[in-house]
Amino acid sequence: MKEHYLLNQIVRSLLAGQLKAAADPHRPRWHLAAPVGLLNDPNGFIEHDGRYHLFYQWNPLGCEHSNKGWGHVTSTDLLHWQHEPVALLPTEAYESHGCYSGSAVSDEQGRLTLVYTGNVKYPDGSRTAFQCLARADGEGGFDKLGPVLDLPQGYSGHVRDPKVWHDGQQWLMVLGARTLDDKGEVLLYRGDALDAWTLVGPIAGSGHGGLGDFGYMWECPDLFPLGERHLLICCPQGIASVGEYYRNLYQCGWLAGQFDGEQFEHGAFHELDRGFEFYAPQTTQDSQGRRLLFGWLGLPEENEMSQPTIPYGWIHQMSCPRELFWQDDWLCQRPVAELAALKGEQTRFEGTLREFPGLAIDSAWLDLALCGEGSLWFGAVAELVWQPGRITLRRQNWQSGVWEDRSTPWLGGKITVLCDSSSLECFVDQGRQSLSARYFPGEKPQLSSGNGDDGCKICLDHWPLAA
Ligand code: FRU
Repeated sequence: MKEHYLLNQIVRSLLAGQLKAAADPHRPRWHLAAPVGLLNDPNGFIEHDGRYHLFYQWNPLGCEHSNKGWGHVTSTDLLHWQHEPVALLPTEAYESHGCYSGSAVSDEQGRLTLVYTGNVKYPDGSRTAFQCLARADGEGGFDKLGPVLDLPQGYSGHVRDPKVWHDGQQWLMVLGARTLDDKGEVLLYRGDALDAWTLVGPIAGSGHGGLGDFGYMWECPDLFPLGERHLLICCPQGIASVGEYYRNLYQCGWLAGQFDGEQFEHGAFHELDRGFEFYAPQTTQDSQGRRLLFGWLGLPEENEMSQPTIPYGWIHQMSCPRELFWQDDWLCQRPVAELAALKGEQTRFEGTLREFPGLAIDSAWLDLALCGEGSLWFGAVAELVWQPGRITLRRQNWQSGVWEDRSTPWLGGKITVLCDSSSLECFVDQGRQSLSARYFPGEKPQLSSGNGDDGCKICLDHWPLAA
């Protein structure tokens, strides 16, 4: 499609839609969301020349999964984001059905370079994919350099989401893939340059590394060192739920192991977030050496088209910025330290659940020390339930009205809940588990006491958050 045509449509969409989106009571107060339209995966997360850059999958023209390009925002504190010119729009034949997800690197000359998937669909329902480059033009935009990789032999048209890094000697790339016989895999490529790649082979996937049958497609892989080990984060599709595990339509999880530049020996798959909406996260290492992560608080194809924000012309938001750390043999997450700067005046409540007077949670940070059994209500549509050894997040599904739950083991440690107008992110046991969810409680939701032992004592610290 012609670029000037798309740009004109985007200007119209922004002019007509921005005020309406901003007027939505469920619009995030401090999380990132697209000004209008649909946002999905975080892309190209990097600290470059002293600024954090975050790109995101964006349909600026509507709330459906089409017209995908890359929106672009920058920040110095991971909290206050400045809009930049739209980075990528699907204008070329090799990306006719979307500039799909990918990553950003500083190239050999220190230029910000995007590596993304050009997605192409054919009228017969088939598709192909190209991995493509675009380089910062020095004026806030990006020049497309075209495809540098097409499909490998033996794979379907579902090969996408390049995550690229330099290991000190060479470029490396992982790609999500679906084989011709419907097995999900992560492919590793090695590059002498950003436009010269050689396939090394699959490093993980269904049927590899003791995983057995593990899905027909793996999306959005990310491989990185953390302390002494390597982590592979990936999003397998096509896994049936087993008890309290894998209850969402698609999964997002991690494998820990050792990567030697060619092969990845790893242990079991663990979910990265045990809540309802969390998908396609991307990490980067910043100049302080932290491994930072943003995730999409959404899931493709699940509960999407009934979201109450659609009448306001926007849908979906990012997670809060999180820092990953490894502790007691487990991948843990905490909100980045910068978030403390949003905290207002602290209120502490200590007493029994019965005595809890209630607090505003449309934008709040909660630290909870809990014991016995009990629950707290978040507005009238979500409930956090604790019992020895277990934390459960319940919510009323906005589409079906049915109550549904997600739960996780609990060692009895502190729980932090970050609340925004339409999202909850719970960090259990100092971040050993997280449970994230969108919810639509209406205006001015209150935290209030739920069921529990009469003697159940809680200690609750509350801070309003203001961006
Ligand atoms: C994950 C995903 C990616 C793809 C992008 C398209 O949510 O399906 O695999 O690149 O979204 O928007």
